[in-house]
Amino acid sequence: MSSIVGYLHGLFQGPSVFGTALLGLCVLLSLLMNELTKKKKTAPAKDSVVKPMEAAEADDRDQCTLVFGTQTGTAEKFAKTLKSQLESAYASTTAFHLVDAENYDAKNVLHKEKLVIFLVATYGEGEPTDNALDLHDYLMEAAKNCDVASPPLAGVTFAVFALGNRQYEHFCAMGKKVQKCMVEMGASPLLPMGNGDDDDDIDRDFDDWSSAFFNALQESKLLQAGARVDMTKDCVPAYHIQKVMDAPKSEVNILTNGSGTNVHKPYLARVSLVKELHSASSDRSCVHVEVDISGCKAHYETGDHIGVYPENSEDVVKRAAELLEKSLDTCFTLSRDNRFEELVDFPVQGPITLEFALKHFADLLSSPSKAALKMLSAFASDEGERTRLTMMSSLEGAKQYDQYIHIPKRSLLEVLADFPSAKPSIGAFFGSISPRLQPRYYSISSSPKMHPHSVHITCAVVCEEMPTGRVHHGVASTWLSKLQIGDSIPIFLRNSSFKLPKDSNAPIIMVGPGTGFAPFRGFIQERQSSKASLGDAFLYFGCRDRKKDFIYKEEINGALENRVITKLEVAFSREGKKKDYVQHHIDKDGKEVWSLLKSKSNPGYLYVCGDGKHMAKDVNRVLHSIVQREEKCSSSAAESIVHKMAEEGRYLKDVW
Ligand SMILES: Cc1cc2nc3c(=O)[nH]c(=O)nc-3n(C[C@H](O)[C@H](O)[C@H](O)COP(=O)(O)OP(=O)(O)OC[C@H]3O[C@@H](n4cnc5c(N)ncnc54)[C@H](O)[C@@H]3O)c2cc1C
Ligand SMILES: Cc1cc2nc3c(=O)[nH]c(=O)nc-3n(C[C@H](O)[C@H](O)[C@H](O)COP(=O)(O)O)c2cc1C
Ligand SMILES: *[C@@H]1O[C@H](CO)[C@@H](O)[C@H](O)[C@H]1NC(C)=O
Ligand SMILES: *[C@@H]1O[C@H](CO)[C@@H](O)[C@H](O)[C@H]1NC(C)=O
Repeated sequence: MSSIVGYLHGLFQGPSVFGTALLGLCVLLSLLMNELTKKKKTAPAKDSVVKPMEAAEADDRDQCTLVFGTQTGTAEKFAKTLKSQLESAYASTTAFHLVDAENYDAKNVLHKEKLVIFLVATYGEGEPTDNALDLHDYLMEAAKNCDVASPPLAGVTFAVFALGNRQYEHFCAMGKKVQKCMVEMGASPLLPMGNGDDDDDIDRDFDDWSSAFFNALQESKLLQAGARVDMTKDCVPAYHIQKVMDAPKSEVNILTNGSGTNVHKPYLARVSLVKELHSASSDRSCVHVEVDISGCKAHYETGDHIGVYPENSEDVVKRAAELLEKSLDTCFTLSRDNRFEELVDFPVQGPITLEFALKHFADLLSSPSKAALKMLSAFASDEGERTRLTMMSSLEGAKQYDQYIHIPKRSLLEVLADFPSAKPSIGAFFGSISPRLQPRYYSISSSPKMHPHSVHITCAVVCEEMPTGRVHHGVASTWLSKLQIGDSIPIFLRNSSFKLPKDSNAPIIMVGPGTGFAPFRGFIQERQSSKASLGDAFLYFGCRDRKKDFIYKEEINGALENRVITKLEVAFSREGKKKDYVQHHIDKDGKEVWSLLKSKSNPGYLYVCGDGKHMAKDVNRVLHSIVQREEKCSSSAAESIVHKMAEEGRYLKDVW
């Protein structure tokens, strides 16, 4: 792995010089342009082109690096926003570099940094994201071995914004580790670490931290502020687009068939079954999808996740092309423009049509980030539109952004429609405005013991009205529900720590209402296939109405009859006058549940899966009150008992 990183760094060093040069150029250019437009004259950009090497030598600005560790794109989004806001204030004196943690050569460059900013998310049981694994290992190792007498990072100033979710035992653990290691190696924190809580409002947490960050930066006088710089088209990181006129049909729009072992190498799996799980009387939908992985190099274990790359619907794709004023059959290849170091290789080489690119790779329905609005502003020919976009992307415009974008949940498409004079080029749209469409994760609802060659998915179809009146059809769930047998879809497999106890005699308590049942279907299949003796297994399931959405009812009842599960409690939330939820049943069974969990000789395991916004919290609360009741102890004593269970890996959550 480290050799790959070294190699990537080598690649990265080259373009970075040009990138830096380009930015310097852009800054000068846009300052110049500002002057010229004031005098109602325009200077042709051509005249100002300087050979990259000359510019690089001329660029003696300070350097600042922003490193992001992300799984689903939030940390990257924040890093881009911070970078664009930093550039507004400091670009004339400082060059900012956005670096994927995977490509950051900490060993060779960290000690040379003047100011380095880490934006890192936490996963699993307090682990780093996949792309930050090497960074994590390096920092831990280097901090452990560092010479306290001459700390290696003495001249380095740093800042950390940690992304996490307070529902997890190890809240923001990766951020905390980075912070600690940096301090141990003698680096100075610019300000206290920021904690972003995805359970609450992580965007607001980031805004608050950003304000504090800019204040601290100003006070530190570390960087020199220059004139404010507006965005110009030439500075927007864009792919180089080469139109293709005559490619044979068989060579256009090809997805690569990878190993399926990680997010970068999706495997094209054949869909072998799609089935509605709700009854006809339900007004919602939940689908069971099976995909064939017999040719796939990756294997899975019960409790693992599958990642799926979805497609945008035809309507959404058409609307996007309309707004961009480009034809859907425009056929092109995209390549990285070396002037922009932060652009990563496009996922496919092409040639591809605009339709294919929009369908597979553009996130069109999420809200645009502040950085995206700033990039879009460069393309607005209308002065008023440009001013408004620039305002909303600025640090001072946080309230306007909140009110126009964040609260009404405006999608990128809605924003494009509201700013009709802003028509980005295809290269800029994919490079800077629309984020990459992210894979969605599903808790695998089968066990390889029973289904070694297929992976089952249990997916609730998202459909909800947004504040603007737009009905949002969940991108992946809607698409999954419409798949046909024989379609091939890009998937990959991912390890999780949501695993059955090693000892099959250990009692287990499974709490999984709705699609939260998914991994437990796998657990049940694994137990069914096992020849070993089995301990107690309680299942707490929940749905609205037994006639509508009691998914896998026959299988669950069958498992109870065969004693693969030893107790079944189902909460029907909408049958009676009073809401009945899983936590009410757990509470009622408190004595029995706690006697299984607390046993000294054969301690039990508690598993909670599904909705994290409400259900998992309610279950957690009930667990605390049961412990307090049964142990006759204080609330803080109950707290530490539950904490200990989690530490021992006997209280596991798979929530979303
Ligand atoms: C580890 C893990 C396991 C999971 N397991 C399962 C599983 O087993 N079964 C299952 O059904 N799901 C599971 N999920 C959830 C799943 O990954 C998807 O999130 C879910 O299917 C919805 O995806 P979607 O593309 O259909 O919806 P999306 O289009 O991504 O929309 C999802 C939500 O985002 C919000 N949203 C959309 N647009 C905007 C906007 N412009 N501004 C603000 N908010 C917006 C809406 O509230 C909407 O409900 C799991 C998630 C994780 C992380
Ligand atoms: C499967 C899963 C596991 C997670 N584990 C943790 C955790 O242990 N601690 C934590 O603070 N946050 C945890 N989170 C929350 C993420 O860190 C948070 O949602 C973050 O905003 C994701 O950032 P990203 O989009 O850049 O990957 C977890 C989220 C998921 C989906
Ligand atoms: C992907 O490759 C595997 C193994 O080489 C093969 O079995 C599978 O059919 C391929 N998928 C598609 C859609 O071509
Ligand atoms: C998941 O982890 C287990 C044990 O740590 C390992 O044996 C297995 O190969 C991993 N699977 C994948 C897909 O990485």
